[in-house]
Amino acid sequence: MKNKHLVSITDFTKEEILRILELAAEFEKKPSQNLLEGKVIATLFFEPSTRTRLSFESAISRLGGKYIGFTDASSSSVSKGESIKDTIMTVANYSDMIIMRHPVEGSARWASEVSRVPIINAGDGANQHPTQTLLDLYTIKQTQGTLDNLNLFFVGDLKYGRTVHSLIQAMSMFNTTFHFISPLELQIPKEYKLYLDKLGLKYHEYRDFSEVANEADIIYMTRIQRERFSDPMEYEKTKNSYVLKNKMLDNTKPNMKVLHPLPRVNEIHTDVDTNEKAYYFTQALNGVFTRQAIMTYILGLKK
Ligand code: CP
Repeated sequence: MKNKHLVSITDFTKEEILRILELAAEFEKKPSQNLLEGKVIATLFFEPSTRTRLSFESAISRLGGKYIGFTDASSSSVSKGESIKDTIMTVANYSDMIIMRHPVEGSARWASEVSRVPIINAGDGANQHPTQTLLDLYTIKQTQGTLDNLNLFFVGDLKYGRTVHSLIQAMSMFNTTFHFISPLELQIPKEYKLYLDKLGLKYHEYRDFSEVANEADIIYMTRIQRERFSDPMEYEKTKNSYVLKNKMLDNTKPNMKVLHPLPRVNEIHTDVDTNEKAYYFTQALNGVFTRQAIMTYILGLKK
């Protein structure tokens, strides 16, 4: 497959998504293989990251590949005024694939239009985070045994949370019932509600979290995205909107799992961490296997 990019989760069909999940399961059984020997992958992070960058780099290393890149735009020639276009066209000369995180929405799509090697979007502003979505799907399937007909509760910053936006689009392929819990200021953008309306899928919106989670198969907690607020007072007003505590899980379904793309600030109390329903650190581990699957699939090394 030549120059298949992953910019939005909708770049993959349902069949492709399910194939990626099968491949991820194979990599979970055998994460160290030499499939990327001789390949150089660029990781260009214009925004901070722990999990996405390091799980990609771990995935590349375990597959025998090499990576180059930067973790901070200030150490690249972007700080001298070089454009994204020139940066991408240059780095494409040095690598077989570019993984890029950037604060501007649409930047990954734009990069894909000028790059001669595949672009993988590792998060573009508040827009999309498709590789997180694939690892979220892998984790949901791993814990629930299926992706079909689930009750998925999103809690927190649904306006700026890019992982939420991508996951809604992906889970809409599996007859999900969506539950959106957020402060009014951070409610799910209208475009995603229209998207679900068009597909005839059910969704519910709430402000209060404490009463409603008992039907949940998955509670997907999110951080209030401080870096996206133009007004710091708005952040202060909403930052402590929801804090999940251990006691609140008492009457939830036995197989319910709490996910979070991480990093967390204070929206999940640390007393939840030892509850068997807390699954966010295993979710982060799944990032390695899923990203191995994504890279080898896009490079045509796995079909
Ligand atoms: N989930 C996620 O994108 O985490 P990082 O910001 O640490 O990469």
